[in-house]
Amino acid sequence: MSLLFVNACPREGSRTERLARMWLDRHAHGEMVKEFVLADLDVEPLDSAGPNTIGDYSKAVAAADYAHPMFRYAKEFSEADEVLIAAPFWNYGVPAKLHAYLELVCSQGVTFDIDEAGAYVSLCHIRRLTYVMTAGGGEVEPLDDHAFGYVRTLAQRFWHVPEICRVAAWGLDGPQADVDALLEEALN
Ligand SMILES: Cc1cc2nc3c(=O)[nH]c(=O)nc-3n(C[C@H](O)[C@H](O)[C@H](O)COP(=O)(O)O)c2cc1C
Repeated sequence: MSLLFVNACPREGSRTERLARMWLDRHAHGEMVKEFVLADLDVEPLDSAGPNTIGDYSKAVAAADYAHPMFRYAKEFSEADEVLIAAPFWNYGVPAKLHAYLELVCSQGVTFDIDEAGAYVSLCHIRRLTYVMTAGGGEVEPLDDHAFGYVRTLAQRFWHVPEICRVAAWGLDGPQADVDALLEEALN
């Protein structure tokens, strides 16, 4: 079994990364863990110019030719049995680099496809996706959660992941916050 750990925690001393490693200690027994530290990777969004153009993306998808390096993250993702994504809650959503990474992962023909009836077909076999996050403030309403809410939609609609979990520690930046206790509570 292979577990892909997408580490989108850019801050030194990140509490989110700590929570993710606590989760790994408890849950990733016997799995081969492959970690992507997004801060160390060249992850550029699709754009009109630059390394990953929308023109090149569209041509590649139309020709079903995925040799371009922009598809490397989607290829890795499609091979995972399990996925762990860790990211701090930023501006009610995900850090931009994680968004850019997921944009590349959502490559039609690599991690999902569209059948003749227009339905999404998963090209992944991920049995569980876990999203680990920490936030400075208190828990938000589901409609204001554009982090797990966004990742959950991709996991459900594109990759048909049967088990999608969130591990969230809220209120870490409060003056009285007991960070160790909040992280432990989030895991339980
Ligand atoms: C750019 C930025 C945006 C943030 N946006 C939010 C937010 O929308 N809601 C919130 O509760 N906390 C927000 N925070 C606080 C972080 O979510 C909180 O400090 C988190 O625990 C940071 O995780 P880390 O220790 O892994 O870096 C923000 C922090 C930063 C730096």
